[in-house]
Amino acid sequence: MLKYLVVYASETGNTKKIADEIFYALPSDSKEELNVRSWNGRHDAETYFVGFWVNRGTCSLEVIDLISSLHGKNVAFFGTCGMGNDPAYYKSVEAIATVWLPTDNRYLGSFFCQGSMPAFIRDRYEELRGKRGDEFADRMIAIFDEGQRHPDKQDLLRANVFADTAVHRIPEQENYSHLRDIL
Ligand SMILES: Cc1cc2nc3c(=O)[nH]c(=O)nc-3n(C[C@H](O)[C@H](O)[C@H](O)COP(=O)(O)O)c2cc1C
Repeated sequence: MLKYLVVYASETGNTKKIADEIFYALPSDSKEELNVRSWNGRHDAETYFVGFWVNRGTCSLEVIDLISSLHGKNVAFFGTCGMGNDPAYYKSVEAIATVWLPTDNRYLGSFFCQGSMPAFIRDRYEELRGKRGDEFADRMIAIFDEGQRHPDKQDLLRANVFADTAVHRIPEQENYSHLRDIL
């Protein structure tokens, strides 16, 4: 069994950037990174980092299937969404995933950051001017424009620190469990 598995869903590459950084930060050679579309029960690990992008307020069924199949694991979540720098929103995004996590896992926490969005969403925000007013449309367009720069270097750095912090939440004994295999 692997020590770490980083599994992610990413349509336009933002979440994959975070997945790559988390994978890089993990302190072991016993690790794999894969797209959730390639995930099957044969890929097993002690610790899972599960990543997703927020799609109309939720995550994909593939991600839900994966999360709800985990038992007795250490589990952390990460991902990207259109909203930036909003801890309350990130908390609600975290809940999208934790609600599916069986209680016999050890939860290590989550990391979310802003990701760029496709141009058609900016057009939709422009169309809101007539319906929701200029102030609302301007605010959403500003968020969209800021998003085009994310994930940025700071986001990657924070993802790296998050991976390190999450790993340190695993009790020491388990961190050395691989010794059972080699001694
Ligand atoms: C169809 C669609 C729906 C989206 N819904 C949401 C949403 O409900 N909340 C949000 O914060 N961002 C939303 N976003 C923004 C994405 O979560 C964001 O662009 C994310 O970084 C994409 O990640 P990816 O590049 O890994 O696919 C949506 C984007 C698209 C294209």
